[in-house]
Amino acid sequence: MNRLQGKTAFITGSARGIGRSFAEAYLREGAAHVVIADIDLDRARQTASELGERAHAVRLDVTDQASIDAAVKEAVDKFGGIDVLINNAALFDLAPIIDITRQSYDKLFAVNFAGTLFTLQAVARAMIARGKGGKIINMASQAGRRGEPLVAIYCATKAAVISLTQSAGLNLIEHGINVNAIAPGVVDGEHWDGVDALFAKYENRPRGEKKKLVGEAVPYGRMGTADDLTGMAIFLASSESDYIVAQTYNVDGGNWMS
Ligand SMILES: NC(=O)c1ccc[n+]([C@@H]2O[C@H](COP(=O)([O-])OP(=O)(O)OC[C@H]3O[C@@H](n4cnc5c(N)ncnc54)[C@H](O)[C@@H]3O)[C@@H](O)[C@H]2O)c1
Repeated sequence: MNRLQGKTAFITGSARGIGRSFAEAYLREGAAHVVIADIDLDRARQTASELGERAHAVRLDVTDQASIDAAVKEAVDKFGGIDVLINNAALFDLAPIIDITRQSYDKLFAVNFAGTLFTLQAVARAMIARGKGGKIINMASQAGRRGEPLVAIYCATKAAVISLTQSAGLNLIEHGINVNAIAPGVVDGEHWDGVDALFAKYENRPRGEKKKLVGEAVPYGRMGTADDLTGMAIFLASSESDYIVAQTYNVDGGNWMS
């Protein structure tokens, strides 16, 4: 407990799902402020009000540089700086290679990769200006470890996040900023409800079947929950991980070994 005492965390895409669980966990660990930064401002406000007075909602569209700059500035001005960034916002899509559209490609790379890069950049600039270092955690995925027949774009965005974590980690450690990533496996929630619906369409399955199959295939014996990931997110934000640089950790019940 209290491993994040007094820290300010900025978590993108934390109005729901895994990001929301991270915000809850950080507050339990004593964080002074958690910024619920999401494109869905109504849901971010709802989440912040449910998490209590140390949670603050801000509208953030990670595809819009002005929005990134404004949200980061608001957090820095209000709380005196950002100690921890989690780049968590992402979109999913799938299609066979011959059906992939430019629109899907542009959208996924804009959110999952460019959004991660330019939010990381804005927060790193603020951390460097403050001179106290910081922790940056990027959300990768097991999908970034290998391709999948229907998931080319999402897999490529997450492989790019793993690569960015390596480059940014090596570049920013001289400022005392640790950049690392978490690669979850299959995590139950609204996100996977959408994934299941897409697989139902493209693999001609009843709704719910893909979810059941991927859960059964996990060596641990079930799909993950958002709470299964919080231990790693706390560790990577705490001083216990100071010597860890540019790594991506699988938290996936044994799906992937690397
Ligand atoms: N759920 C899984 O099985 C799984 C597996 C591996 C990796 N991940 C990764 O974990 C992270 C969280 O996943 P999740 O399951 O909670 O997803 P989710 O879809 O439930 O939540 C994503 C959040 O991002 C927000 N968002 C979308 N576009 C945005 C934008 N342009 N700017 C700001 N916010 C935006 C959404 O409003 C939403 O609140 C993602 O990076 C995802 O790729 C998830």
